[in-house]
Amino acid sequence: MFENGKIWMDDAGRSIQAHGGCILQHDGMWYWYGEHKGAENCPGTTRVDVIGISCYSSKDMNSWHYEGLALDVKDSPEGSLIQPENVCERPKVLYNEKTGKFVMWMHLDTPRYTYAGVAVAVADRPIGPFTVIREMQPNRTDSRDMTLFKDVDGTAWLVHSSDWNKTLRLSRLTEDFTDVDGFYASALVDQTREAPALMYRDGKYYMITSGCSGWQPNSALYAECDHLCGQWKLIDNPCEGDNYRRTFEGQSTYIFEKDGKTYLMLDHWKPKNVKNSGYSILPVTVENGILTVKWQATFPEQAS
Ligand code: GAL
Repeated sequence: MFENGKIWMDDAGRSIQAHGGCILQHDGMWYWYGEHKGAENCPGTTRVDVIGISCYSSKDMNSWHYEGLALDVKDSPEGSLIQPENVCERPKVLYNEKTGKFVMWMHLDTPRYTYAGVAVAVADRPIGPFTVIREMQPNRTDSRDMTLFKDVDGTAWLVHSSDWNKTLRLSRLTEDFTDVDGFYASALVDQTREAPALMYRDGKYYMITSGCSGWQPNSALYAECDHLCGQWKLIDNPCEGDNYRRTFEGQSTYIFEKDGKTYLMLDHWKPKNVKNSGYSILPVTVENGILTVKWQATFPEQAS
């Protein structure tokens, strides 16, 4: 059992380093990918040099086993922007049934976030090693916080903050998930949202986002839409419980399903010591069309 909002430990007793992460289920196993921040902050800053993208595995999510770096900055190809002094954040991984490959997308940037692009990497196994095959600005637009979303029709989408974080963009991926195919739509125009996490339920799409205040918590908001590329409407703050106005001191990163239930994963950033940032996994419910994220002290929930 893990205490939400706190640092989580792996099965070897080391702090889990998988920030800005995502969860993938494959062949009966769970995989958790995220930013490895397991070093000291660069002096006088709120950043840690890029180490790579970690992968953890679990049979049941009651404990996590470190599988190593699925993508190691040391294996970065020549000329790549994936370098210790740059930024490599919010990795998301999908499995492509047609190619049998695991495809990872991540936010790639320079230290001051002026490049605003993505990197794409592929692997034959969920634990990697992932090989970087592309670094770009998707559809020649700037791209910062991002997630991947697989639609019910099998298409996959990059959902990313663009236009200097003012607008979210949904960019469709090619069939092999390794590139954008040129089609994209805008959502929440001029609403300045980031940290997107999406889900689909009973004919509706829902997207939870944070405001843009860097490492500082703010109010989450959710939006809904009947079509992925339709007119998204901001609804309200979905959080319920103490500190709901500051997303329980966290920030959204991913939504996943487990045993018929839906969960939102949060990061609890500690900017002065990023490696000590915590996590939460909280239940998401949709009742009468209203989406709620309820605070819960532990994951999994303690039987009462
Ligand atoms: C947040 C963003 C994080 C990280 C951080 C750096 O707004 O969601 O992923 O980029 O800023 O300050």
